[in-house]
Amino acid sequence: MTPSRTDSAPSPLVKAVIPAAGLGTRFLPATKATPKEMLPVVDKPAIQYVVEEAARAGLQDVLMITGRNKVALEDHFDRHWELEQALEAKGDDRRLQRIRKSATLGNIHFVRQGEPLGLGHAVLCAQAHVGDQPFAVLLGDDLIDARDLLLEQMIAVQQAKGGSVVALMEVPPEQTHLYGCAAVEETDEPDVVRITGLVEKPDPADAPSNLAIIGRYVLDPSIFGVLEQTPPGRGNEIQLTDALQERAAASGEGAGVHGVVFRGRRYDTGDRLDYLKAVVRLAREHKELGDDFSAWLEDYVAELRDADRTPSATSR
Ligand code: UTP
Repeated sequence: MTPSRTDSAPSPLVKAVIPAAGLGTRFLPATKATPKEMLPVVDKPAIQYVVEEAARAGLQDVLMITGRNKVALEDHFDRHWELEQALEAKGDDRRLQRIRKSATLGNIHFVRQGEPLGLGHAVLCAQAHVGDQPFAVLLGDDLIDARDLLLEQMIAVQQAKGGSVVALMEVPPEQTHLYGCAAVEETDEPDVVRITGLVEKPDPADAPSNLAIIGRYVLDPSIFGVLEQTPPGRGNEIQLTDALQERAAASGEGAGVHGVVFRGRRYDTGDRLDYLKAVVRLAREHKELGDDFSAWLEDYVAELRDADRTPSATSR
């Protein structure tokens, strides 16, 4: 059944939840004492890009779900008076504006996830703050290029169709075991699908499609009641995918899940290789560094090609 909102005037979305309490084991030892969301991508921590994306989409109320090492996250989104005074005294207005920006992106709140019991459990920690309105979830280590308006499109789909909305991306079959994968039916809108089933991290043979869930969700608040009842699943963690599977199969108010198929640029900065790609791409496009970095990169690639042709040549 296609879900529809029962209330006549859909409420605007204002709240974003950013889970950032995972252990970040793929990036150890860098993430031993620093949350992976705080790793710099060029000159900003990954999570600042995510908060900026939420602000651009009109979500001014941000709740971060933090775990151990939460202090760095809280400090980054707070004012730093000593640093501000030092920069003011030096007359360094440019850097002053930059460090103030992270503290002015919206109303940022924090809640602690006592134990990393899974993404579903992290989202459940937002229940009291979110209340009974639809809300967005943005994974703090998943970057969507600022030119690709994925979240805006997902919010529009949720407002039009009700229920919940997930972002999907086509992945090669050998990567399905890294993601939640969706069984889908087409709708009359291009790149908007109705989700009929979800499986968390399936082997390629069991994957219902090559459409993987990536780190953006717009959720109906009925997800909280489902998460409360969701037992630990894959990896012994409470999986958001399992709760969404229930919502996809259910009918009635708040049920139903749609997917927006994303064809833009996305980086999982919790993965070392993707992180490096994000840094290179965003450095090339950086306003101040881009030209110099691109020139160096071209030289470096040429040098590598030369070294390949001349085995004895050394590289820098
Ligand atoms: P990941 O699947 O990337 O897990 O979590 P992880 O533990 O953070 O990292 P690895 O796999 O060990 O390297 C997806 C998102 O869910 C959050 C993470 O912070 C990340 O944004 N998360 C995960 C939580 O907030 N709490 C959890 O218990 C688990």
